[in-house]
Amino acid sequence: MSEEALPFKEKYYPGLEEYLDFYEESVRDIEGFWDSMARGLEWYKTWDKVLDDSNPPFYRWFTGAETNINLNALDRWIGTPVFDKVAYYWEGEPGDRRTISYRELYREVNRLAWSLREEVGIKPGDTVTIYLPMIPELPTTMLAVTRLGGIHSVVFSGFSSRALADRIVDAKAKVLVTADGFYRRGRVVRLKDSADEAIALAREQGVEVEKVVVVKRAGVEVSWSEGRDVWYHDLLEKAPSRAYVRPEPRKATDVLFILYTSGTTGRPKGIMHSVGGYMTYVYNVFQWNWDPAPGDVYWCAADIGWITGHTYIVYGPLMNGVTSVMYEGAPDYPDPGRIWSIVDRYDVTTFYTSPTLLRLLRKYGDQWVEKHSLETLRLLGTVGEPINPEVWKWYYEKIGKRKAPIVDTWWQTETGAAMISPAPGISLVPLKPGSATLPLPGIVADVLDYTGDPAEPGKKGLIVIKKPWPGMLMGIWGDPERYVRTYWSTFSRPEEGIWIYYPADYAVRDEDGYFWLLGRADEVLNVAGHRLGTIELEDAILTHPAVSEAAVVGAPDPVKGQVPVAAVVLREGYEPSPELEEDIKRRVRELIGPIAVPARILFVKKLPKTRSGKIMRRILIALLEGRPIGDTSTLEDPTAVEEVKKAVEEFKRLAKK
Ligand code: WT7
Repeated sequence: MSEEALPFKEKYYPGLEEYLDFYEESVRDIEGFWDSMARGLEWYKTWDKVLDDSNPPFYRWFTGAETNINLNALDRWIGTPVFDKVAYYWEGEPGDRRTISYRELYREVNRLAWSLREEVGIKPGDTVTIYLPMIPELPTTMLAVTRLGGIHSVVFSGFSSRALADRIVDAKAKVLVTADGFYRRGRVVRLKDSADEAIALAREQGVEVEKVVVVKRAGVEVSWSEGRDVWYHDLLEKAPSRAYVRPEPRKATDVLFILYTSGTTGRPKGIMHSVGGYMTYVYNVFQWNWDPAPGDVYWCAADIGWITGHTYIVYGPLMNGVTSVMYEGAPDYPDPGRIWSIVDRYDVTTFYTSPTLLRLLRKYGDQWVEKHSLETLRLLGTVGEPINPEVWKWYYEKIGKRKAPIVDTWWQTETGAAMISPAPGISLVPLKPGSATLPLPGIVADVLDYTGDPAEPGKKGLIVIKKPWPGMLMGIWGDPERYVRTYWSTFSRPEEGIWIYYPADYAVRDEDGYFWLLGRADEVLNVAGHRLGTIELEDAILTHPAVSEAAVVGAPDPVKGQVPVAAVVLREGYEPSPELEEDIKRRVRELIGPIAVPARILFVKKLPKTRSGKIMRRILIALLEGRPIGDTSTLEDPTAVEEVKKAVEEFKRLAKK
């Protein structure tokens, strides 16, 4: 942790004091601070109160205010130079390209909104599920839905039909927007087939999808349900070419969107974000993170199906009038230089990605980087997982050529945008490879030990947020009790009026007050920057007829950070075999999606359990990480450890090959 702070001699010379001045001022009067930050945006009506904290932890931001995020993402650019600027440079995996200006985006959003209202019947407050790949129609649909005052629920296009069905049912969505297919690694993924299956599964659970809007992307044959299915391009044709739909006035405290994420139970949580708070937080944090300038070309290489894409591909850049790059396909297709060739083609200035992608590209070898100039890059970012210092240095030296600071952003689906990160848009603090540095303005963060006292510098503890912030989740869709329990019950002391947000991440603060984020403290895995619940995976494995018990844990992986590994006990009459392993993996792929497939199924006769029957996952984790297994006095049957140990050793031997 004693990495020496890196100096910058370029534009971003360290300005720790300048940053701390700004920060201290922001947290001296949080409401006053967010009041002035929100005034940079367009509102139909401003607020009576910045923060309503009368019913914690159900904090409400900008009560009494009315707005629509479209006002800030699109309409405000009318009559300004931004209107004729490029909003998106889009590149398909096969190499097809589209350039979309703010004017074109505005027109298409209006036409789509017009048709969604007139032809599909979407009304304010309706929920629309969007299951689209990385094509321009995805941001267009999100904006059209929110323009009408609807709520979008975007489901990552890599999720299976079962995962989509669960999300449709939970949100009770009547309308689904999807595509015929899309390109991934040179092949067409038939998305409409999955959508059709999901609709059938949702019907079994009592939710009927009444309209399906289908974007033609891959040009493949699809099955068609007359009266229910409608082509996206036919809908657009129905709208007047200069259709105008007034952005529906929404209360700042209404729900802008739901986004599902994994937790510690089998059921994903629908995280709800607010109209006014999310808008304000994202608008400002985007500026602090990326210091946008008129000539910038910004590329957040995430998928819009995750919060990173919502915030840093759609709403953040558009509200700041920034030009973005959007790419449809696999990062190493057709070769490992694809990402860098896109950077050069569009003269990308600001590039934001995950440590997993960097580790993957680094592994391919520097020859793939060296073919490209990358000279336009001036800011680099990372998100999703801790970045190892070696990879940080590679990014800094090989990609940024030692002139682009690295903005390591720690945050979560629940927080709306970055929380702990450098803010070159204000003043760049000295960087330390592997640390996300300091809290952003308005964010009061700390590291506590198990008793709830501040952890000593250098001692591992749990990160907490001690004051509400505008980007915070409003709650969990349909489950207020789970919201309180998951995020506010660990360290809060309601009887004393103290409410503390608990992200469930380990962290250390060093002598300089810098935060080092160390991974999840709950039963949630972080695989390639994606969140997966261990219980969710176990539930999927347990649906296999051969399986009687399953325990899923994360094993360290040099590229993906973590990979799921499952220890499985078979039912009487079944024998371990490579075919059975494949079959169980296939089950996970079908029920959740390819990202969740375990790297390995370890067949064991017994799982280590406590006498009360609870599976001791920490023993599995210790064995996989090669650490001592610690206290085993509560073990019901010590021979279970030997079993698992053998299986883990075998796994590690194979992994080395
Ligand atoms: C979890 C949230 C927020 C967008 C992507 C993931 C981990 C996130 C960092 C970082 C270390 C990080 C945490 C967090 N995480 N960013 N810069 N350094 N860890 O969103 O799926 O909601 O996952 O990702 O463990 O809790 P998410």
